Amino acid sequence: MNLERKTIVVTGTSRGLGAQIAQQLKASGARVIGLDKNETTEHVDHYIPLDLADGKSIETAVSQINEPIHGLCNVAGVAPTLPPPLVLKINYFGNRHLSEMMLPKIEEGGSIVNIASGTAMGWARNIEKHKVLRELSIEDDLEAFCAEYDIVKANCYHFSKEAIVAWTISEWKRREERDVRMNAISPGPIETPLLPDFLSDMTPKDAPMFEMQRSNAEPEEIANVVLFLLDDASRWIHAANIPVDGGLSAIVQKRIFQF
Ligand SMILES: NC(=O)c1ccc[n+]([C@@H]2O[C@H](COP(=O)([O-])OP(=O)(O)OC[C@H]3O[C@@H](n4cnc5c(N)ncnc54)[C@H](O)[C@@H]3O)[C@@H](O)[C@H]2O)c1
Repeated sequence: MNLERKTIVVTGTSRGLGAQIAQQLKASGARVIGLDKNETTEHVDHYIPLDLADGKSIETAVSQINEPIHGLCNVAGVAPTLPPPLVLKINYFGNRHLSEMMLPKIEEGGSIVNIASGTAMGWARNIEKHKVLRELSIEDDLEAFCAEYDIVKANCYHFSKEAIVAWTISEWKRREERDVRMNAISPGPIETPLLPDFLSDMTPKDAPMFEMQRSNAEPEEIANVVLFLLDDASRWIHAANIPVDGGLSAIVQKRIFQF
């Protein structure tokens, strides 16, 4: 992999997976611009404050990026410990708005990587809701959407990550308009500070997923795949959602399809 002389924007760099990605990017020779609600002092060349729950904050952050960008990693996200409309706003609309604002600044041949989740596996079941969501923006009334479409604490995280997958796939045409690829990865549980929030919020429906997982991923194991997707070596991977979960999705599918 050759990420030297590339400048990569990474969100969520203050801790967890985003911090790990930033660290590995720096080790690979890339310049890293870290965007986060919380100040980032390590593994970034430049830190810019960003609140993904606030469209104006996103626009202000992007306006401070005035150099050619080769990649964007949408990593920052929250667990369903926050109200459902806010989870949806940060995990989906904030990421989408940031990507749309960033796109003109990304060089031809660039790459966007979205962090979805293994919990998004059943996204296609909710396709009609995702079509509605696609027409809304970060400024719209997400409380009304959640009330109308029954997005509650128990399903808001899954739904926000499903939306990331649906959006990533629906954006395939971008390749024709601009040579900027966009892919998602869907990790299973990762050993980060966020993991206890997921465990405390698991519903009985989720429990088998965690029991079936042989162990949690180390952040490095997920970051390795993100770096590959940023690199030109992965240039034929486009508009894909890639499970990076130690086989968890295969186990779930085997159970569902009984084979
Ligand atoms: N940890 C897991 O088990 C797991 C599994 C699958 C997917 N994910 C996803 O991986 C991504 C990274 O998660 P993590 O485990 O490293 O979490 P983390 O909580 O350790 O890190 C999240 C980062 O996002 C930042 N952030 C939170 N809200 C923000 C906001 N409104 N605006 C800007 N920045 C904000 C935080 O400051 C932090 O730096 C998330 O999208 C998460 O949903 C995590």
